[in-house]
Amino acid sequence: MLLETRHLSKQFNGIYALKDIHFSLEAGEVHGLVGENGAGKSTLIKILTGVYALDTGEIYWNGEPLTVRNPSEARKAGISVIHQDRTLVPTFTGVENAYLGMPYPTRGGRVDWKAMEARVAKTGKAIGIELDWQRTAAEMSPPQRTCLEIVRAMMNDCRLLILDEPTASLTDKESEWLFSIIDGLRARGTAILYVTHRMEEIFRLTDRITVFKNGEMVGTVLTREISREALIGMMSDNWVAETLHGGSGGGEVLLRAEHLRSRDGIVRDASLEVRAGEILGLFGLGGSGRTELLECLYGYRPVAGGTITIHGQPQTRLTPEKAIRLGVALISEDRRGKAMIGNLSVRENVALSCLKDFARHGVVDSGAERPAVREMTDRLRVRMAGPEQRAIELSGGNQQKVVFAKALMTHPQVFLCDEPTQAVDVMTRGEIHRLLREEADQGRGVLFVSSDLKEVLEVADRVQIIVAGETRETLENRNLNTQQVLACCYREE
Ligand SMILES: Nc1ncnc2c1ncn2[C@@H]1O[C@H](COP(=O)(O)OP(=O)(O)OP(=O)(O)O)[C@@H](O)[C@H]1O
Ligand SMILES: [Mg+2]
Repeated sequence: MLLETRHLSKQFNGIYALKDIHFSLEAGEVHGLVGENGAGKSTLIKILTGVYALDTGEIYWNGEPLTVRNPSEARKAGISVIHQDRTLVPTFTGVENAYLGMPYPTRGGRVDWKAMEARVAKTGKAIGIELDWQRTAAEMSPPQRTCLEIVRAMMNDCRLLILDEPTASLTDKESEWLFSIIDGLRARGTAILYVTHRMEEIFRLTDRITVFKNGEMVGTVLTREISREALIGMMSDNWVAETLHGGSGGGEVLLRAEHLRSRDGIVRDASLEVRAGEILGLFGLGGSGRTELLECLYGYRPVAGGTITIHGQPQTRLTPEKAIRLGVALISEDRRGKAMIGNLSVRENVALSCLKDFARHGVVDSGAERPAVREMTDRLRVRMAGPEQRAIELSGGNQQKVVFAKALMTHPQVFLCDEPTQAVDVMTRGEIHRLLREEADQGRGVLFVSSDLKEVLEVADRVQIIVAGETRETLENRNLNTQQVLACCYREE
């Protein structure tokens, strides 16, 4: 046994986030950790890596009691982590980020940058990662950043690597690459604790799986002995997957883009139509400009050419304020950055973009606001102490739900969704799909972006392909399969 916890408990504000956890992990195994949003997965990881102190209980490492008072003690013991909320410093280079929290080597009283880069490059090479280490984290793509975090984790002799939703913003292909790195680490005898909401990954990667529910450990199972349905059953009672019916689709065009070009040149020639009653999927590989196109349609990213038409009105100089007024909502994947204010309460965040609706004579009428917010958070199963809890204290997936609830409150006509189910559990993912379908059925239009192609095929009526900033054909989703979509993406033009 490499790692074992006994009677481990942790409370926040008098509420158990973890209760009496007896968890164990063997050397060299890939161990999956699953559970609904707020089940306690990240909390366990933060305790194991010294971010939080445990309230009660013990941790054993190689059979010896272990105390981790801070992240660097965890690292010294051989436990490294890639957290759910990524921790790279955007303005630092790859080398500087890899050395975060470690002393810089010196030579003759000066920082020895050469030695640093050499060590980082060597660590990367040993596990098959090569990057331009002089680039800043901000200049790297999401998969490159994930790789950088892995290299950072491997800088010390690492016996246990913990990954908390590492593929959240990666496409299938990028994820495959990450999996091969994980396979390599497993072959070298490094144990891996892997947290994800993506069931395919759990079954593709893990040897054993532990299930958490409401801060308690339901149990540990052998991956080869459990089915997907049984595993989801362990995570949540009474939940049955619904199959979505296709929409009626094909109403009037609510939003149209023609030959759109962004000023920074990322979107080069994009045209599409979002119609009332439909969910239009937008799919492209990493770096294809999916997110950037959505930002153009929302007036967030400057446009240099082409036209955007909303409700039949051509829009010159679209701004987000104007977009909101015209009934367009952007549900962004970037929780911390743009979409949520961590220090405000859940209630304040959800009500943020529609304060006017609740104001009487310029004063917010919280009597009207509260029930409306409550209804939204209940519908999306937001797990929180109460609506007055600060949003930053919620688990990752629950923060994503707050962002979604906030957008729903404005009653938009057009939904621009960028990875709306990223980081949410399978149950909520189903609920978000159902909500979007309901909105479409009531005459709204949805533009749906996901790096998970299977998800796009699950929800979309039509799929618009985008490659290198240029849109290609739109495919009707009648038994469309992933090969057909990928063939369009890879076709040389
Ligand atoms: N710093 C904090 N202050 C207050 N409560 C917290 C804090 N961190 C976590 N919690 C609470 O502890 C519970 C468990 O959260 P945790 O982040 O471990 O969930 P999770 O299983 O990782 O969920 P997700 O899948 O959404 O990432 C949640 O109810 C959360 O609100
Ligand atoms: Mg988490």
